Amino acid sequence: MITSTELETKGNLFPGEVKAFDFDGDSITFSTENNVLLRITVLRDSILRFRYATDGIFENDFSYALDKDTMHGFNKFQIEEDPSFITITTSKIKCKVAISNLKIGIFDLQDQVIVEDELGFHWEENFEFGGNFVKMNKTSVEGENFFGLGDTPTNFNLKGRKLSLWNKDQFAFNKDLEELYKAVPFYTALHTNIAYGIFFDNSFKSHFDFCQDKRNEVKFWAEGGEMNYYFIYGPKIADVVTSYTSLTGTPDLPPMWALGYHQSKWSYFPESKVNELAAKFRELEFPCDAIHLDIDYMDGFRCFTWNKKYFPNPKLMVANLEEKGFKTVVIIDPGIKIDADYKIFKEALDNDYFCRRADGPFMRGKVWPGECYFPDFTNPKVREWWAGLYKELVGEVGVKGIWNDMNEPAVMEVPGKTFPRDVRHDYDGNDCSHRKAHNIYGMQMARATYDGVLKYSFPKRPFTITRANFAGGQRFSATWTGDNIASWEHLWLANTQVQRLCLSGMSFSGSDIGGFAEQPSGELFTRWIQLGIFHPFCRVHSSGDHGNQEPWSFGEEVLSITREYIKLRYQLLPYLYTAFHQYVEEGIPILKPLVYFDQEDVHTYYRSDEFIFGNQILVCPIQDPHVQGRRMYFPRGKWYNFWNDEVVTGGKEFWVDAPLEKSPIFIKEGAIIPRFPAQNYVDEIEIEALFLDIYYKNGNETSILYEDAHDGYDYKKGRYSLKTFKFRGKPEEIIIQQHKDGKFLTSYKHLEFRFHGLPFEIEKAYVDNEEVSLESLDYNRTEKTMKIPKMFDLLQFTSAEKL
Ligand code: GLC
Repeated sequence: MITSTELETKGNLFPGEVKAFDFDGDSITFSTENNVLLRITVLRDSILRFRYATDGIFENDFSYALDKDTMHGFNKFQIEEDPSFITITTSKIKCKVAISNLKIGIFDLQDQVIVEDELGFHWEENFEFGGNFVKMNKTSVEGENFFGLGDTPTNFNLKGRKLSLWNKDQFAFNKDLEELYKAVPFYTALHTNIAYGIFFDNSFKSHFDFCQDKRNEVKFWAEGGEMNYYFIYGPKIADVVTSYTSLTGTPDLPPMWALGYHQSKWSYFPESKVNELAAKFRELEFPCDAIHLDIDYMDGFRCFTWNKKYFPNPKLMVANLEEKGFKTVVIIDPGIKIDADYKIFKEALDNDYFCRRADGPFMRGKVWPGECYFPDFTNPKVREWWAGLYKELVGEVGVKGIWNDMNEPAVMEVPGKTFPRDVRHDYDGNDCSHRKAHNIYGMQMARATYDGVLKYSFPKRPFTITRANFAGGQRFSATWTGDNIASWEHLWLANTQVQRLCLSGMSFSGSDIGGFAEQPSGELFTRWIQLGIFHPFCRVHSSGDHGNQEPWSFGEEVLSITREYIKLRYQLLPYLYTAFHQYVEEGIPILKPLVYFDQEDVHTYYRSDEFIFGNQILVCPIQDPHVQGRRMYFPRGKWYNFWNDEVVTGGKEFWVDAPLEKSPIFIKEGAIIPRFPAQNYVDEIEIEALFLDIYYKNGNETSILYEDAHDGYDYKKGRYSLKTFKFRGKPEEIIIQQHKDGKFLTSYKHLEFRFHGLPFEIEKAYVDNEEVSLESLDYNRTEKTMKIPKMFDLLQFTSAEKL
């Protein structure tokens, strides 16, 4: 890591006194005695952008992170000037700019401090590369907590940590490693029940210090570019995260099959092995929707080719798999083998699509195929070309998903494991070195891949997954946490990392279930599956050199337990799909760490084992060997034990039993949880009835259910169904109201209710205010089940006493 102190610099420079300020629409620009400009833009009443320039000149305003559809919402504000401060006030916050030194203080409307500059903006000139090290120091209020920052493999609460963001290939990474595959320079802070976020939109290597150097100071800085950050006010963590996600965007809905179970290994080949694998899943009735082919399907690791010895007729194989309900996903890396007889290489060479070193030679580096050149994905022409390369693979062969890897970019056997910093990039017309483009290289590869897969899958939806990414990259691709290890610590890490990714706008994520390197015991594999079914992306993947990791590789007991959990995932698909819809539409993370769920509860600040899946399912994975249970923390409220309907009142820790076949799962009282019947793959059967599990509450709770055709884009034309269920429970009565939106007609005719925890016996039922007999609803008094016509508006169930 280069630090500014290793370079000869003039030391820290500061803006000095404000000399003038000026308005332009939603921006106010300040200029100082030392020729610094600060432009504050009021993007929303709760989002301010701060942009600083030295020498009085701003750079071209360009960002890969921001979603092009980012809305500038309500941004009315007032400005007041007094001898010491210029104050900008929106309907939610006040921002004070000190005239004497350009320092910023942000307050809520009750004048409570949210965050104030300590040293504030300062910089050091970088003589070696030009430009500045741009730095920001802010004071940290006593008791402040920090969350987010992408895939960082460390404790969930970042307080006391120092981290840097520089995408790195880290085989078998370990806990607390500083740099990993992704760079998401966004964190959420929480103190005194006020949450705010900082999104530092700078793609250079960036650094964060959450009160490590000094206990009351938080710092972030980058090795080049502008000090350019967004302040996002909560006061709820949910407001911060959803606002950040609205700035940087969300993906479209994936096809539902992509939320099924994926099986992968490095590598399944030849074709007969793949067919055997597929047959085994069906024979054992172990649900599975996707099989991934790793690098060995290619001819000498040349991207966009097939090894014809192993796969003589890929199109036929893919079609046969599809027939059995399997989608084929294949890997594509960025390194293009230097080979004059290789079409893709020649095309890129002829069109000058490869990255070059500062003095002109191509960027040459070793990856799986041997020596390679690398396309410059920051060039729009290269992205278009790359997207076009999927014509054959996706459009003709029929591959349904693309897995992008090694795109940090990874280079073998060189210091730093990546491109040297002098490599040149187009950066969409903002020509720059690798120092600036490194962190977004993988994201732009994923973007080009997404464009291609979308184009050739249409009217079906694409599925893409990438290892490296940058803030906003969630628009293009799902992700996984990379080359983990089959260890209990890595199970813990997978849990923490995926929750962290969800708070960083990247909900569509998961880990290599069971561990990539080394081999898990049957127990570890089982516990990992029990966590993995709650991750938005659910794939078993392993390096393959330490033994098998298919679910049947660990004996009968592990097979039958893991099959039940995968079936549970398939049953919960309508629930997960609804959570995905909320993520796509509103930026709501699919997994909610407890602090997100209830930030007023201080017990949640350092908790990361437990999390909420969707809105109403509390999960606590078992992360230790040989245990029969554990203590877990229950957030406030009442929770039903999924396995036996016992009710626990939260706000404290309890012991929960967890023999190998029972992982702790709890349902929020009042919840209405939709369920499909178990299937071997998505859309195997036509759903004849949707199950709704209704967990009684003496009070109110709202649940939602999103449905559509599971694939295609008709949902964007209103062909979706969004139902809101309002549950109201009293000691002798239940009322359920249904609100319906959208034009999609579900295939099933009725709903199958199952009541949990009913404190009274149902004697009377009313559908839309008409009394109906319990027999006509097929009411089963023992099972507490009944059939309900799906289009109801209002249901009422009462006891005899209530009559
Ligand atoms: C990288 C990937 C891993 C893959 C391997 C071979 O290590 O992270 O998932 O199996 O490359 O392609």
